[in-house]
Order: sequence, then structure tokens, then C-alpha cells
Amino acid sequence: MNFAEVRADFPILNDIIYLDSASTSLTPEPVLKAVLEYYRGYNANVGRGVHRLSQIASQRYKDAHRKVADFIGAKEEEIIFMKNATEAINTVANGLKYKPGDKVVTTLIEHHSNFLPWLRLKRFGVIVDIVKPNKDGIFDVPDFEDAIDHKTRLVAVTHVSNVLGTITPIEEISAICKKKGTLLLVDGAQSVPHINVDVRGLGCHFLCFSGHKMLGPTGTGVLWMKEDLFDELEPPAFGGGMINDVSLDDYKLATGYERFEGGTPNIAGAIGLGKAVDYLNKIDMNKIKEHEAKLMERLLEGLLEIDRVEVYGSLNLKERIGVVSFNIKGLNPQNAALMLDEASNIMVRSGHQCCIPLMKHLGLKEGTVRASLYLYNTEGEVERFLETVEAIATVV
Ligand SMILES: Cc1ncc(COP(=O)(O)O)c(C=O)c1O
Repeated sequence: MNFAEVRADFPILNDIIYLDSASTSLTPEPVLKAVLEYYRGYNANVGRGVHRLSQIASQRYKDAHRKVADFIGAKEEEIIFMKNATEAINTVANGLKYKPGDKVVTTLIEHHSNFLPWLRLKRFGVIVDIVKPNKDGIFDVPDFEDAIDHKTRLVAVTHVSNVLGTITPIEEISAICKKKGTLLLVDGAQSVPHINVDVRGLGCHFLCFSGHKMLGPTGTGVLWMKEDLFDELEPPAFGGGMINDVSLDDYKLATGYERFEGGTPNIAGAIGLGKAVDYLNKIDMNKIKEHEAKLMERLLEGLLEIDRVEVYGSLNLKERIGVVSFNIKGLNPQNAALMLDEASNIMVRSGHQCCIPLMKHLGLKEGTVRASLYLYNTEGEVERFLETVEAIATVV
């Protein structure tokens, strides 16, 4: 399957240019079909019965865990389905036990979803230390060495910035965490959909990401965690489907991912996410990365050539992937986004990008315009986008 063929699976692209995949990606026909097949053909609850439909649904739901596990080099039992990356991160933040004086280290570039859950812990006496990048969003690894000490319970960092597209040096941070005996949580919301991510290679303890940003249905997200940490984390919800035994005064939690998936899960969404993983594998993650890198090179180069356009983040293509934030001088980013839509049916994100601390650090009160790429974008779309930005920059 080549990238031109891919577009036939996204009929929504017939009359729009979608440059907002970092918010949520589009959903290809095979994923929609898998969701419909569940509802039309074997609509039943999972892990709860023996009738035929229940068995088919349970098997497909389990298969989805295996497919996602294989995709990131994990074990099936370690994949926990959640409704989004936010829920996955909160499950870790709220599920660990802390002593007053324990420390959590995070960074200034985090999405609010990997910032607020940690900031909230201050109320319980946890110290939160924040590592800052340079103005291009690049970290100095020794800053982590300084911040992480023997009191640090956990380090929470994003793999790729949703504002700047910059890549965080996870392996180096992981080596420091290992040396200091600290847990490491990686927010993979912007990396897992775009580059090969292998959890063992990354060297983290938790990886959180969104299914809906990688061609899966909305309402899907993933928490991966090492199985030997299951007992350290309190499940986010107690009830049906997550126990092995219950007596009048106690309960025994299930041993697998079920213990963190209390209640009826998003079965259709999970099956759809499994299909999305099949789709990405069929195209090949290395090819997707290459395709996006090529488009990003032109996008960056083109934006930098336009007078009155200011681009944020490192310009070194080795340090970033397919997300770019910019502003047109004198134009509010929300207005710029509206004008891109009105002029050329181009969809981009605008505003603070759920990263108010980073916006303050960059001195950007109104935020930025953000264009983000995925496998279905084309060179022609990038050119149309650049022409439209140039036309807007000329008239304001
Ligand atoms: C880096 C990052 N982390 C976390 C999230 C939150 O993801 P979700 O909306 O799936 O909860 C996002 C969403 O944009 C993100 O970009």
C-alpha cells in the first residue's frame, strides 16, 4: 500500500486539508468497518459469559490487547485499555502511594495531561520539581541528573512535545532513573503514532498514549506498565470484571490487565484500535516516519521563507518530528486558524495547545498556530498550506 492509496480510506479528505492529527487523527475505513462489525455481528460484553457472541467479542478484545502489545514490544497482559492518554497518566499519578517529602520530576514542556496530575500531588505533600528546556525546547540532560535525587519517586516526561515536535532524550533520562532507582513514566501521545516505539528499548516503567491519535476510534487510550509493578498501583475503579474472588469482607484482584479495567470497557473502540494497529503495520512505521519527515522538511523550510512568520522550536530536523508551531506577526493564532479554514479548507489547531506553562516560557500570551502531519498528508497539501499562510501574512 502506498501513500496515495491510503487516501482512499479517508473519504473525509475529499474536500479538506487536515493538519490537526496531533489533536486526533482521522479514522480509516477498515477501522470503521471493524467497529461496525462488532455492533452488527457480535455485540456482547467481554469476559463475562459463555454464549457464542460473548466468546467472539472476548477473543477479539483480547486480540486487540495483543496487537497493541506487539506494536510497542510489550506483553499482552501489560496493555491496559483506557479512554485516552489523560486517563492513563492519571491512573498512575493517583494509583501510586506516596510519603510526604516524596518528589516527582516533570518538565515545563508537558501537555496539561502530564502536568496537572503531578501538580495536584503537591496537596498531599509531594514535591514537584520542573526541568526547563532552552528556548528551542531542547533539554540539557545534566539538568535531569541534578533534579532527580534519592527522594524522587517518579519522573514524568513527554517523548515528543505536542507544541514544538521536539524529541526528548528518553534513553538518557532512563539511564539516570535507573542509577537513582526512580520510576519513569513516558507520555507517548505524540510519539507512538509516528515512530517505532519499543518499551524495553526506551527503558521506562509506564508508557501512556492515545489510541485516537493513531487512527483508532475516539475514547481509546493505552497504559502500558511493567507487570511486576501491578501490585504497586491501586486500580482506578473497583467493580465488575476486575477481580478473581470476593468474600463478604475482602476481594482478590485479577492478575492480568483486567484488574485496571473495571466495568464494561470500550469494546468496539478497542477492537477498532487493534485494526488501526494492523493498518499502521501494513504501511510500516518506518515508512510513515520517512514520509512525515519529508513533508516536515518542506513545511519548515517554506514557513521560514515567509516574511512575518515566526516558527518555534528547534530547526534541526533530527531533533523533531511532524508537528510545527508558528505565528503570523500581528495576527491572533485563533484568527489565523479561522482564515486558513475559510481560505483553503485547512484544519489546524490554535491557542495554548494545552501547554500554558510552555506558552508563558515562550512569552506567547495568545499561543500558537500548530500544523501537524500524518501518513495521509501530501506534498500538494503542504504547498497549498504554505501558499495560504503566505497570502494571509501578506494581507494582515
Ligand atoms: C503530549 C500529549 N500528552 C497527552 C495528551 C492527552 O491525550 P488525550 O487527549 O488522549 O487524553 C495529548 C493530547 O493532545 C498530548 O499531545
